[in-house]
Amino acid sequence: MRAYYLDNPEHTLTAADLATEGILSWQLPVDEAGYAAPLQEIRESRGYVEMDQIHLGADTPDLEALCDKFFTEHLHTDEEIRFVVGGAGIFDLRDKDDAWMRVHVVPGDLIIVPKDKYHRFTLDEARTITCKRLFQDTTGWTPVNR
Ligand code: LAC
Ligand code: NI
Repeated sequence: MRAYYLDNPEHTLTAADLATEGILSWQLPVDEAGYAAPLQEIRESRGYVEMDQIHLGADTPDLEALCDKFFTEHLHTDEEIRFVVGGAGIFDLRDKDDAWMRVHVVPGDLIIVPKDKYHRFTLDEARTITCKRLFQDTTGWTPVNR
């Protein structure tokens, strides 16, 4: 994971900095044998009962339209939890002063966007990501555009 202010990439952000903004993150092993146990612990401690896997890449129909949708600034009324298992992605999140913080995620990164936090997502130049999505509840998880 690499995090920094979008308007000043030299101003890097640590996991602790992100935590002060309510954004939790973990770096787990990239291989399943390594991440299975810590992922399960996080699921149990935070009540993430549902999990699925999403893949975006050259084989995704309407990839660019989907990326446009995800790059529209929005929030959710529940947490957005992503654990990256392949490829890479970019989350932009608004800090308390409305500045964009950019978080570049790679395999092994688990990020929790808190509820009611404006954000957007896109792919990086690799144009592919595979991640697990965790949910406390599948109902009501829809974007609210800004
Ligand atoms: C979502 C991400 C892309 O809402 O923010 O699915
Ligand atoms: Ni979202």
